Amino acid sequence: MSENLSGFAYLIASVFFILALRGLSSPETARRGNKLGIAGMFIAVVTTMADPRVGSFELIVLGVLIGGFIGTIVARKIEMTSLPQLVAAFHSLVGLAAVFVAIAAFYSPEAYGIGTVGNIHTLSIIEMSLGLVIGAITFSGSVIAFAKLQGIMSGNPITFQMQHSLNAGIAVIILVLIITLINAQSDNIFWALAFASFIIGFLLIIPIGGADMPVVVSMLNSYSGWAACGIGFTLSNPALIVTGALVGSSGAILSYIMCKGMNRSILNVLLGGFGGGAVGEGTADKGDQSAKAGAADDAAFLLKHASKVIIVPGYGMAVSQAQHALREMSDLLKAEGVEVSYAIHPVAGRMPGHMNVLLAEANVPYEEVFELEEINHEFSTADVAYIIGANDTTNPIAKTDPQSPIAGMPILDVDKAGTVLFVKRSLSPGYAGVDNPLFYADNTLMLFGDAKKMTEEIVQALG
Ligand code: TAP
Repeated sequence: MSENLSGFAYLIASVFFILALRGLSSPETARRGNKLGIAGMFIAVVTTMADPRVGSFELIVLGVLIGGFIGTIVARKIEMTSLPQLVAAFHSLVGLAAVFVAIAAFYSPEAYGIGTVGNIHTLSIIEMSLGLVIGAITFSGSVIAFAKLQGIMSGNPITFQMQHSLNAGIAVIILVLIITLINAQSDNIFWALAFASFIIGFLLIIPIGGADMPVVVSMLNSYSGWAACGIGFTLSNPALIVTGALVGSSGAILSYIMCKGMNRSILNVLLGGFGGGAVGEGTADKGDQSAKAGAADDAAFLLKHASKVIIVPGYGMAVSQAQHALREMSDLLKAEGVEVSYAIHPVAGRMPGHMNVLLAEANVPYEEVFELEEINHEFSTADVAYIIGANDTTNPIAKTDPQSPIAGMPILDVDKAGTVLFVKRSLSPGYAGVDNPLFYADNTLMLFGDAKKMTEEIVQALG
């Protein structure tokens, strides 16, 4: 394939990727977005294979078969709630790939047309160094993020004295090594740069607590994009440059949206400390308050006689996979003339869009699903708020206690509803580790049990 033709094909692939991202921004168009992304990737792979510089296909086909096989098995088996660690694991591979490409280009620059061994063009060695550094940071950072999210290592922040100074010192060393490598392209400097980058990736992630990990995974997603972008320059591959930049910027935007949803600054997340120590340490004073507990029959009665019900799903709904039972319940209520809608907090669950995906899977109509700012004012006119496996996202402490770890986080004003039904297994706090005073409110009825089982019992009682 001529260079002009392959450039054009890569451009088409890039347009497909941009359309894919656009499609993925809404549950209604997400499937189409996914298909467009697959089409773009197909064009990019075929174009790369048709490059006359590709000497043999055996290794490529073997790689595609092994990777495709593993990817298919993992994608079919993975639980939705484990997606953050899966994404972290996959990012580590992107980072490692960037490191391998940098190593290959450093030792065989002729193959890439970027100079000769020890005499690589200045711009190319800069691009290669950046690809190496960002790739290595992405790799070791993602491995730690995976280990924390998977429970292989403690999710608590690991902090020690002079931590920030040590990180700053290593960052300076990395900068000095890059400058030295540009001037003297020695093996030792190259490997020292790789080593220092792996170490700083590790050190940057260990102080970050479990609850902040999804934000970090999204940041690492962004890093992996920039690493791919840097490697795209080394390989003179425009599709990789554009795709890397798309992943890099969309990951950064996603991290920003997540931080905004939790009212945190990205710097505050990245410097660590929150989300680990706080977990499990309730802060609200329960005193002698007691929570009222009800059964499925009580809930069915209240729901059936309501004219407006707002359902608030959270992490627990995902854990118990209660979305299908929930849809059945709302179908029965709608048949009784009850107005039913769903309120989605931007950080409900453990990843952006978590609830939307599950509700879409259960065929909940999109027009019944609302974002926080669209529906929050409606709670005061709702007879029942049915909170299923959600907790932090409803906790009024966020508004009243400036010392709380969730202070300032926008919350769903469920307490304004006539009756608040909380479906959860106990009075335990949510991910942020903060007790929820709503459990003890006069208009709250706790429905203790697994979200799916309780909702199924309500469906039976309604039927
Ligand atoms: P959480 O506050 O984490 O509360 C979930 C509740 O579900 C828990 O209190 C738990 O109580 C209950 N639960 C667990 N398994 C259950 C089951 N099988 N059946 C019924 N209930 C069950 O959830 P949320 O309201 O969705 O808030 C999300 C939290 O994650 C926020 O703190 C948010 O900042 C954080 N976070 C989210 C994201 C994104 S992007 N979504 C990113 C980073 C952090 P029991 O143990 O008593 O059942």
